[in-house]
Amino acid sequence: MNQSTEQINLIKAYVSDAFLNDTSGHDFEHMKRVAHLAKKIAIDEKENPKLCEIAGWVHDLIDDKLVENVANSKADLHALLKRAGLTIEECQSVFQAIEAVSFRKSQTPKTQIGKIVQDADRLDALGAIGIARAFSYGSIKGQPIYGLDGHSTLEHFSNKLFKLKDLLHTRYAKELAIERHQVLKQFYLQFKKEWHEANDLD
Ligand code: ADP
Ligand code: NI
Repeated sequence: MNQSTEQINLIKAYVSDAFLNDTSGHDFEHMKRVAHLAKKIAIDEKENPKLCEIAGWVHDLIDDKLVENVANSKADLHALLKRAGLTIEECQSVFQAIEAVSFRKSQTPKTQIGKIVQDADRLDALGAIGIARAFSYGSIKGQPIYGLDGHSTLEHFSNKLFKLKDLLHTRYAKELAIERHQVLKQFYLQFKKEWHEANDLD
């Protein structure tokens, strides 16, 4: 096993443990998809694939909507990366990348690694899997699937998800987003059609 595979395996084991009981769309499989997509985008962008993959694996470990104490989570992540043998510069790159990933904070990551991880994370909010994740998240938050108060999961599509394709930074992500965006749109229109058909029966 080469050094890079060993590093990733250690990180994967930690991430698997951290998101073991998640049913909000932020489970191990989300981290895996983001890590793998980040690596693919990195190769296309001629950026460092190992660091992009690692940043993908850990990108949600310090998100304040998922962890109770961000400072403690940051310290734990720092220890993990050190244990995995990353240099101080590599640790800094990973932290810089993941601190600005979240959509809620409306930030554009300053580094290319950050942009790549943000694109990979956003791609996972689109398409069929993105739809499934949105309804999982909505259910955990107690949102109705649809309603006109602005807080339903279907409204999250127009409030956020439809905007994502135009906010992507990289060529490969923009290409993948075309089909995933269409899947969202089609689902949204079909949902509304069925909703109104049912309501017309009143
Ligand atoms: P963010 O970038 O907003 O921090 P994440 O990338 O961590 O979000 O993932 C958020 C996931 O949860 C996405 O799949 C997103 O569609 C979903 N999500 C976030 N807010 C809502 C909401 N209000 N209703 C439904 N799904 C949501
Ligand atoms: Ni994420």
